[in-house]
Amino acid sequence: MAKIRIGKLTVLSLLAIFVAGRSVKAQRAAAFFPEKDLVTTGIYYYPEHWSESQWERDIKKIADMGYEFVHLAEFAWFRMEPEEGRFQFAWLDKVVGLCAKYKVKVLLCTPSATTPAWMRTNYPETFIMDGHYIRGEQGTRGLGSIVNPVYRRFVERIVTEMAKRYGRDGNVIGWQLDNEPDAKPDYSPSSQEAFRQWLRGKYKTIDSLNVAWGAAFWSQWYNSFDQVIIPNTNIVNWWGNNPHALLDFKRYSADAQAEFLDFQAGILRDNISKDQYITTNYLAVSTGADPRRARQLDFATYTAYPNGGGENLGDLGYRLGNSRLILFASEYYKSVGGATGVMEIQPGQVNWGSSSPLLLPGAVRMWLYHNFGAGGRIACSYRFRQILYGAEQYHSGVIRTDGVTLSQGGEDYVQFMKEVKELRKRYKPGARMPEKLAARSTAVVWNLENYWTIDRQKNNQQWDAWNYPVKFLELAKSFGAPVDVVPETADLSKYKVVIVPAYEMADPALVQKWSDYAAAGGQLVITCRTATKDRMGHFPEAEIAAPISGLIGAHVKATDMPSNSAKGEVLMGSGRYGWNAWGDLLVADKNTEVLATYNNQFYKGTAAVVTRKAGKGSVTYIGVNTDDSRLEKDVLRAVYEKAGAETEDYPKGVYVYWRDGFFVAVNYSSENYTMNIPDTGRVLIGEKTLKPAGVLVWSE
Ligand code: GAL
Repeated sequence: MAKIRIGKLTVLSLLAIFVAGRSVKAQRAAAFFPEKDLVTTGIYYYPEHWSESQWERDIKKIADMGYEFVHLAEFAWFRMEPEEGRFQFAWLDKVVGLCAKYKVKVLLCTPSATTPAWMRTNYPETFIMDGHYIRGEQGTRGLGSIVNPVYRRFVERIVTEMAKRYGRDGNVIGWQLDNEPDAKPDYSPSSQEAFRQWLRGKYKTIDSLNVAWGAAFWSQWYNSFDQVIIPNTNIVNWWGNNPHALLDFKRYSADAQAEFLDFQAGILRDNISKDQYITTNYLAVSTGADPRRARQLDFATYTAYPNGGGENLGDLGYRLGNSRLILFASEYYKSVGGATGVMEIQPGQVNWGSSSPLLLPGAVRMWLYHNFGAGGRIACSYRFRQILYGAEQYHSGVIRTDGVTLSQGGEDYVQFMKEVKELRKRYKPGARMPEKLAARSTAVVWNLENYWTIDRQKNNQQWDAWNYPVKFLELAKSFGAPVDVVPETADLSKYKVVIVPAYEMADPALVQKWSDYAAAGGQLVITCRTATKDRMGHFPEAEIAAPISGLIGAHVKATDMPSNSAKGEVLMGSGRYGWNAWGDLLVADKNTEVLATYNNQFYKGTAAVVTRKAGKGSVTYIGVNTDDSRLEKDVLRAVYEKAGAETEDYPKGVYVYWRDGFFVAVNYSSENYTMNIPDTGRVLIGEKTLKPAGVLVWSE
C-alpha cells in the first residue's frame, strides 16, 4: 500500500482505514452469556474521582449491593498515561485486585473518548473540526478525530498497554470500546482526505461520482477527486446541499466510526484471552453510528436514559420516562451479535434534561425489567457514586453524595438484583416460546440509511424519521407479538408478519426478496415512502415507487402532504380516521382489494390502503401516515388475523415479553393495568395489577 506523509507521521495510506477489518472473526455473543444466568448486573465506577482510601469501601459496597461486575477506566487516560509514553497502572491494578477480593468481575473500557492534556496541547490535529472549521479543544470528550493518524497511534498504544496488562486476567470479563460512539461529522483536513479516499474506493472514477451525486445540478461537476470537499450544510445552508453527497458523508462517517471500533477490537484480540468479550455502548437513539457496520464486536450494547424531559405517556409520564427507548434499542441492537443489553441505565435524575423530576419509585426497576424482558444479557448503570464536582455533579448515582447511602435508583437496583437471583433458581433449560406467541412473530425491517435519507428530505414537518418505524414496533407489541428489528439481509422466513416501514431506498433484488417472502406464505406489510428511491437516493425514471407497484398491486399516483391544521379523513369499513401528514393516492390493480379510501378532499374515494393475495401469503400497503396510528393499528390487526394469530390489545406503554421461560410485563402508562394471565400461570414477581412503573413476571 502506498505510503503518504501526514503531519509528523509516515503512515499507510488512509485507504487502509476502510479495508475490511482484521482477519480474526468476531466471536458471537451467546458464548459469553450462559442462559441460566439470565442477566448480568454491573456498575460504572471511577476510582480516579475518589480518594484511594475509599476504594476498598466502595468496591465492597458494590459487591454487597449485589452487582456482579464493575466497569472501570472509561475516561481515565490521564491517569494511565500521565505523560506521553509514560504508563502508570499501579492504581488500576489495585482496584482490579479489590474487585477480585470482593468477587466482582471487571469490565474494562478503552479510554479513547477523553484524551490527556499532553495530547491536546502537543497534537491539536488529534481533534475534529466542526462545520465552521474550528478545532475542538480542551474541555469535553468525544472530540478525537478518529481518522487522524496521530490520534490513532496514541489510541493503539494505550489500548495495547491495557490489553497486555489485563488481557489474561481471569477476573476481567470483557472490554467496552470508547464511549457512545456516534460518528460525529469531522471536517478536519485528515477527515477531508479520508473522505476522498473513501469516495475513490467507492466510485473508482470521478465521473461515476458525478453521476451518483447528480453533479450536473448547479454546476457541481468535478474533474478529479482532489476537488471534492465534505458537503457542509453549516456553510451553504441545508437547501444548498447535495442530498447524495450528504448521504455519502453519513455513510463515510459511519464507516469510519465502525472501522475505528474494529481497529481497537483488533488490537485487543491480538492480546486478550478469547474468554473476554469486546463490545461498545451505542446511544439508544444512534442517528450517526451504525452498529451493523462494525465487524469485530462480539455484540453491541446501548445506553438508555429514558427520562430527560420530553413527551411521555399520561400524567405521570414525566416521572416514568420515554417508553420507546428501551423498546426499540433492545430489539435493534440484537441484530449485531445476536444478544444485547443495557450498558448504562439511568439511575435517577440527570443533569442534562429539559427538566429533572424525581423518578417515580420503581421506575429504574421497571426499566431494568424492560431490558430483561426483551432478552437483555447485561444490566449495567452509570454510575456508582454521584460525583461532587464537574459537569455531571447533578447526575444521580446509585449512591448519594455522602458516598454511602443508596439513592432511590440504588434501592430499585438492589431489589432487581435480589429478584434476578430468585428467577435464576426458577430457570428451566430448554424452554420454547409458547405457540400463541410464535404465531405472531414479527420483523420490522429497518436500516439507518433510510433514516438518513428521509430525515434530510422530510418534505413535511410532521414526519418523524426516527419514530415512524418505531411506531410499527410499538403497534406490533400492543398485539403481544415478539418483534425483531432486522436488517434487510435477515432471513425473513421465520416471521409470520414482516413490516417494511418507509424503506425509502431499495433495489429490485430487495423487492424480489420481499415478494418471495409473501409468495411463500408470509404476511408482508409495506408502508408509504418505500422504494421511492434507488440506493443513491435518485428517483427511478418511472412512476413513484415503481419498483414495488407490482408487489403491492397498486400505483402511487401522487402524494398529499397537507398542512398541520388540515383535516384529512380516511374511511375503512365503518371506521373514520383523521390524518394530515402524508397520504399516497393509490390506484389499485384489478385483483387488489381496497381496504381504506380518503373520505374528503378533492380526491375523496381514492384508495389509501390496499391489500392483495400474493402466492401463499399477502401484501398490504398502508399509504397514509396518521398521527394517532389508529388506522395503522386496525390494518395491522387484520393482518395478524390473516396469519391465523390471536392478538392481545395492550394499552400504550404496557409491554409484554417472553424470554427463557419467563413472561415479563412492564407498565409505563399512568394508569393501572390488570394482566390477564391463565389459571395455570404462576406469578413470580409483582402483582397481576400493574401500577404505573409496575412489573410482573410469571411463568405458564
Ligand atoms: C451518557 C454517557 C455517560 C454520562 C451519561 C450522563 O450518555 O455515556 O458517560 O455522561 O450520559 O447521563
